[in-house]
Order: sequence, then structure tokens, then C-alpha cells
Amino acid sequence: MQRRQLFQLAGAAALTTAFSTFSKKVEATGLSMPQGVSLPIKLNFNENSLGMSAKAKKAISDSLDIGFRYPDDQREELIGLIAKKFNLATNQISMGNGSSENIQAIVQALIIRAQKNNTPIQLVVPDPTFNYAELYAQALGISVVKVPLMADFSFDIKQLQQAAEQFKGETIFYLCNPNNPTAMITPATTLFDWINTAPAHHFFILDEAYAELVQNPDFKSGIELIKANKNNVAVTRTFSKLYGLAGYRIGYLLGTEEVVALAESCMSYDNTNLAGAVAAIASLQDPQFEQLSLATINASRQIVQKALTELGLKYVDSNANFIFHQIKGDVKTYQQRMKEHQIYVGREFLPIQGWNRLTLGTPQEMEVFVKTLKMFREKGWV
Ligand SMILES: Cc1ncc(COP(=O)(O)O)c(C=O)c1O
Repeated sequence: MQRRQLFQLAGAAALTTAFSTFSKKVEATGLSMPQGVSLPIKLNFNENSLGMSAKAKKAISDSLDIGFRYPDDQREELIGLIAKKFNLATNQISMGNGSSENIQAIVQALIIRAQKNNTPIQLVVPDPTFNYAELYAQALGISVVKVPLMADFSFDIKQLQQAAEQFKGETIFYLCNPNNPTAMITPATTLFDWINTAPAHHFFILDEAYAELVQNPDFKSGIELIKANKNNVAVTRTFSKLYGLAGYRIGYLLGTEEVVALAESCMSYDNTNLAGAVAAIASLQDPQFEQLSLATINASRQIVQKALTELGLKYVDSNANFIFHQIKGDVKTYQQRMKEHQIYVGREFLPIQGWNRLTLGTPQEMEVFVKTLKMFREKGWV
């Protein structure tokens, strides 16, 4: 407790410009600032430390009395709202128990379809990236080709394409945009040119878990490709990040009617839980919370980027609620030392050595992180 108070005081004394601009913005929305820091500070799983919208909380508690009913109405309402948000038809949306389930379903459905047609199928992924597609593909026994990122951490598109061209059969590409762990986007010009000229037996899963947090104007959602009727594209999205609902497991897949029907063939029935559905509905109807969530992440990003610059530690411009940055020294030792200081940072993502993925928590949490990082520098640890 003492330590917690100490950090709060120390953090208050060291408010950065980014933080005070943020406070003013929050006050202008009439919402309250994120409160103090509890330990340990968890900056390792790309969660949204702000927590969910107050309206989402209320929707969950209001739903307790109807928890004995199946949530068909709420699921339908949520699908309707998502369809409206993206200007798609309701049969272009497949709900998932988190977007993890959507990724699993589309990978499995593509494999089953290829096997029925006696066509070999493989998965091709950049490396490193979020590894669920790879894990599901491996479990289903197909080969996975991993193509290392370029020196600047962008996708090596030529090598990715070549991996598919050299293969006699279908290829599933899993492309995370922005990528996890780098928080780097692949510009729309590059990505769309590739997909628009790719043959139909190359299928693209575009994981846009962090799309709402992108700052770079060169990013465009793959939803445009779906609107252009591409039957070899699926986009996955989630309520876990911007809306802070990771524990309620609401994700979705968007595609043409044909792609959604395919994904649904491997999706468990009635997979949307009531609490998650009502929280997601309330979140979509709370633009002020969206604004607060974005402002919080942006302020935290500025605090960390400023400190990394001061310390001369390289980082990738972040387009998500995490930042990939250099650590001088062994990353596992750094992780352990941070843990001893009650801060759980992310991990190293091989084959990239000497870099760490750090989740952007609340600005208050990041002030504590920065103080600790600077203390590590004084000790010669980073
Ligand atoms: C790139 C990416 N995709 C998907 C997910 C899974 O999210 P969900 O909570 O929707 O299953 C994550 C979670 O961290 C992620 O980083």
C-alpha cells in the first residue's frame, strides 16, 4: 500500500504535457479520469486498463435477471448494430467468442473445404505475428510457412507471395493489421494491390483487432475489399481492445455472404453470451467512451514514446494499444526485474531479439512505468 501511494505521489509530480492535455480533453467530455494505480501493473496482454464503459457495466448488471434466457434477441441486436456501423448486411457478420474463435473457425472451414476437394492447403504467416492462426492450423495438421519480417519490421510481401506461388494448392495468409507485436500497419496501397491481384485460391484473413486505434492515415480496413465482393477475404475484429471487454469474449468476422457462411459452418451455435452481448451493444452506443478510450491510449503512447526517445531506445511508431521497443540487455532479465518492481511487461518475440512488447495501460500506469524504466537506466540495466 505504501508503495502504491508513493507511486501515485511521484507520478503526480511528474505529469507530462501529454498527460495534462489528456486531462483537459477528458474533462471536456464530462467523463471522469482513470483513477489511481493498483499493483501489479499488467502491461503484458494488450488489455485496456481503462476498463469498460460505465454504460456497458450497467447493461451487464441490468441483464442479471434475464440470465436464464437464451440471448437470441441481444445477439440479433448486436449483429444489427455491427451491420449498421459498417454498412454491411447482417449475413455478412459471424459472431465469435472473442475474435480468437473467428480465426479458429475460418482456418478450420478453409481446411475442411480444401480437403473435401482433395486440394493441399497451407498457412503462410509473417514472423513474428499473433500466433493463433498458426496454432489452429498446426492442430489440424497442415503445414505452416513463417516468413520473417523485413529489417524495418514490415511484412516481406515478396517472400510471402513466393511461399504461396511455390506451393501446389491453396494458401491461407494470416495478416494482422496492425501487426502484433510490432503495432505497425501495412499500408492499404500495398495490401490492396496484393489482394486485388492474388488468385482466388489465395485466401486472406485480415486480423484487425486493433484497427480502431490506428493513427497512420495509410491504413484502410479490409472491409473495403469485402464491399468489393472479394470471396477470398475475411476481416476479424474484437470488442476486447478499444471497448475494454476482453473478459466478455465478443469478437466477429466480416466477409461476403459466402465467406461468412463458410466460417459459420465451423462455428459453435449460440456462442454469444448474454453479458458480453449487452455490454457490446451498450459500448457501440457510447461514443463518449470510445473517445475517452482512444484519448487514454493516445496519451499513454505519448508518455512512453517521449521517455523512450529521451533514453535513446528505439521503438516502432505504435498504431495499437501496445508499443514494440528496444531494450539494451537481455529481455528475460528485464522482464524479471520489472516483475520484481510490480510491473508485468510483455515478452520478446523471436526471431527479433532485444525488443519488448509493452501494453499501453492508463497514463497514470505509464508514468509509473517510465519512472521505473528511468531508474533501470540509472542502474545501467536498459
Ligand atoms: C492480433 C490479435 N488478434 C486477436 C486477438 C484475440 O482477441 P479476442 O479477445 O477477440 O479473442 C488478440 C488478442 O490479444 C490479438 O492481439
